[in-house]
Amino acid sequence: MANGYIAVIDSGIGGLTVLKSLVKEFPNENFIYYGDNKNAPYGNYSAFTVRRLTLKILTELFCYDIKFVVIACNTISLCAADLVRGVYKTFCVYPPAELLETKKEYTALLATLSTCDHYKHYKYIRPFPLKYLAGDIERNIFCLDHIDITSHIKKIPKKYKNVILGCTHYGFVENDISIHLKPPKTLNGTKALIAAIKKDRKISINSKNISKNQVIFIGENSKYNFEVWKKVVIN
Ligand code: DGL
Repeated sequence: MANGYIAVIDSGIGGLTVLKSLVKEFPNENFIYYGDNKNAPYGNYSAFTVRRLTLKILTELFCYDIKFVVIACNTISLCAADLVRGVYKTFCVYPPAELLETKKEYTALLATLSTCDHYKHYKYIRPFPLKYLAGDIERNIFCLDHIDITSHIKKIPKKYKNVILGCTHYGFVENDISIHLKPPKTLNGTKALIAAIKKDRKISINSKNISKNQVIFIGENSKYNFEVWKKVVIN
């Protein structure tokens, strides 16, 4: 399936921040984007509900020739990646927590409730669950200056030298988070995701431009996600 699509999925618009990096990194590939905006945000649901919604996303993908799937959503990666892996070759975005735990660097993890639940037992990583930020971004994507970061997170203690943006939606307000928290270093999971794709010898990444670098938007929210892509992400 050398010419199939790379499918990028998320609960809503968050995965578009990952899609932007993927398009840049793999310019000879074609992409499909599916965002489940109607049911976003996923981060406050139980794992059971996230899994049920992920099964629905999978049925949408069945109609297309898929080369591999990128789960551009930390919440889905942590709750339901096994379901996607059962059908497609799959790459996931995760908060790069292990790396910083190994380096013994105190790190604040900003993420959804669901994602934060998975990172309770680390010594150097402290989860800061932001219950409403992804939803706020989802609603205000065309007027991001309406979002008041200080209402979502107070200051964090000085010992945290790194801040992980553990939700792909947060990429849209990365600047505001940096201005508010002034962390020495901000990280997300996209770099490791791209490294994992490049390292995998079982998939072939096109080195020649076989067809145009196409991004198609599928599902009931396709028009909306295309608008966000055009007006906010790549403009
Ligand atoms: N963008 C998703 C993530 O990375 C989820 C946000 C949400 O739907 O709560 O976790």
